Amino acid sequence: MTLIPGDGIGKEITVAVKRVAQALNTAIVWDEVVAGQEAFDQTGELIPQDVYASLDKNRVALKGPITTPIGHGFRSVNVSLRKHYNLHTNIRPIRVLGQIPALHRDVDIVLFRENTEDLYAGVEEQISPDEAHSIKIITRQATERIVRAAYEYAVANDRHSVAIVTKANIMKLSDGLFLKVAREVAEGYPQIETREVLVDNMAMQLVMKPQQFDVIVTENLYGDILSDLMAGLIGGLGLVPGANIGDDIAIFEAVHGSAPDIAGKEIANPTAILLAFADLLDYISLQDDAKKIREALALVLSDANNFTRDLGGDLSTTAFTDRIISQLLK
Ligand code: NAI
Ligand code: MG
Repeated sequence: MTLIPGDGIGKEITVAVKRVAQALNTAIVWDEVVAGQEAFDQTGELIPQDVYASLDKNRVALKGPITTPIGHGFRSVNVSLRKHYNLHTNIRPIRVLGQIPALHRDVDIVLFRENTEDLYAGVEEQISPDEAHSIKIITRQATERIVRAAYEYAVANDRHSVAIVTKANIMKLSDGLFLKVAREVAEGYPQIETREVLVDNMAMQLVMKPQQFDVIVTENLYGDILSDLMAGLIGGLGLVPGANIGDDIAIFEAVHGSAPDIAGKEIANPTAILLAFADLLDYISLQDDAKKIREALALVLSDANNFTRDLGGDLSTTAFTDRIISQLLK
């Protein structure tokens, strides 16, 4: 199993995963490789060849967050990996755990985000020093794939509705195509209620009344923004995992970034990456272990004495992980 610890808080939170994997006695052997800032400093490359070699071989990875230097010539490692391995389906579940102080308690939404195109396709052009273009790419093939994944998930998990989120009223060609194809796919699922919501209204609806949503499917950029917004609804970025799924390869991660403001302080919340690890275990058919992790997290997070700093508590990353492990060993 490939493990990319990542930058910033990445090392701290992936240590938590390694300890939990060991406590569960999983047969996982980590193949640890370095990508991101540290790799860049050592090799001059953000994703050195051994990272690709490890992913090519293992086909499943857990990845910590990676800092993307802002500026010309640096492509986000995440975007690069998603493109290179065609990790087309990004799944982000938003659920309230335990007794976390959340803005809304009864939220249970799964977001499906198209992961390869849209404004993140990297088609950019500097027209002049004072003008730059980023081209929005939407294709029938990628749209159909992500929308079908959302509906299939809804059917398999007894979900009742899918909300298709676009800005098709303004971007008539690109978002218009996404909506048109989504409607065609939706026709095949008459048992699922389909809603069409414009992204700006969606942002407001999610803040005011997130309970009305079940499964959401959207384009790359809207999905990125809405998933951080939804993380805010349920207690913050330290709680939301994300899966990047391709045809025969998957990379699991936390939704959050490398959090340079708290890196090295041992105060990051490892919950999101632990939930990502649980999703990884499901993916490799170790459902029992996945369930154990989710249950331990829910139980431990039912007591405010077990909260890390982001949730208003004072436990360190290690102390929180200790409590998860003692719950697992009970
Ligand atoms: P961020 O997600 O790193 O941090 C935003 C805020 O949330 C910060 O205040 C941070 O302290 C807090 N936070 C995030 N994760 C937390 C955790 N586990 N526990 C407690 N608090 C947590 O976003 P930011 O600051 O915009 O990005 C920092 C760097 O991360 C950038 O270089 C960005 O490109 C990169 N990034 C990488 C991602 C990835 O590798 N998947 C995703 C998002 C950003
Ligand atoms: Mg993001």
